[in-house]
Amino acid sequence: MMQAKVLNAALKHSAARSEQVLNRLLPAADAQPSRLHQAMRYAALGAGKRVRPFLVYSVGTMLGADENQLDAPACAVELIHAYSLVHDDLPAMDDDDLRRGRPTCHRAFDEATAILVGDALQTLAFEVLTTAPDLDANTRLAMLSTLAHASGSQGMAGGQALDLAAVGMRLDLAALEHMHRLKTGALIAASVQLGALAAHASETAQAQLAHYARAIGLAFQVRDDVLDVTADSQTLGKTQGKDASDDKPTYVSLLGLDAAQALCMSLRDEAIAALDGLPMPSELLHLLAHYIVAREA
Ligand code: IPE
Ligand code: IPE
Ligand code: MG
Ligand code: MG
Ligand code: MG
Repeated sequence: MMQAKVLNAALKHSAARSEQVLNRLLPAADAQPSRLHQAMRYAALGAGKRVRPFLVYSVGTMLGADENQLDAPACAVELIHAYSLVHDDLPAMDDDDLRRGRPTCHRAFDEATAILVGDALQTLAFEVLTTAPDLDANTRLAMLSTLAHASGSQGMAGGQALDLAAVGMRLDLAALEHMHRLKTGALIAASVQLGALAAHASETAQAQLAHYARAIGLAFQVRDDVLDVTADSQTLGKTQGKDASDDKPTYVSLLGLDAAQALCMSLRDEAIAALDGLPMPSELLHLLAHYIVAREA
């Protein structure tokens, strides 16, 4: 109970902080071309959980970075994530009508605008990193490289390609795991890495944190697969049952609900074990691992 309060307060803090910075970084809604800017703000400022900014802030501050140094990387990864959701929902991909409890971007605006929103959020993410305050140029460059790799064809976009190619197919466990690690794990791992880069973490700490991130990154998408079956659309803020109706291979379709959730728990334990021996307290990261596999939305 106490612990849930600690995590909730920390999640709230980093969500509020990143939303304030995003609000400042995104072009004003009345700046031309205003329809595009309105749609970018609609997509990026909706009711997201802000798990990726939380990871940047919590890893970075744990390792001694200042929150001012973490605003830009926290928002950059969230901008990439918001873009990935806008494109994920397009008719050519998952064809979803509901996102973060509201009509998807292409429903609220139109498809062409939603495509451009994705393009513009993505480039804004990199622009934000090039001008990130309170970081040296080498660190900014390392962040750019990390985020670019995690977003591209060997990261999120590659995972989305595997996801689309797998519709109607039965993937084996190794192929499903690979797809999940790319489409969702890569940006989660990048969030942890960005926090570590801002703090100039030691190589040992970076390796332990990378192991943690790999485990929670996979667990995050396995839990997403579970929730697609067990939650309701209102709580999820997105259409329940979409994976089955689209005939997508998921951990639930391959293993069943119980085994999928059991895997979440063992990934949670693996993540927590990876933090053992870090020379600083990592309570928030422990709590986040618990949250990821127990969240209801
Ligand atoms: C949804 O991500 C898409 C996945 C990668 C599973 P989140 O569950 O983090 O979505 P928001 O940002 O809270 O809306
Ligand atoms: C999303 O996977 C992964 C992304 C890179 C956006 P899903 O298609 O399962 O995400 P939701 O369930 O629509 O949020
Ligand atoms: Mg998808
Ligand atoms: Mg989807
Ligand atoms: Mg899903």
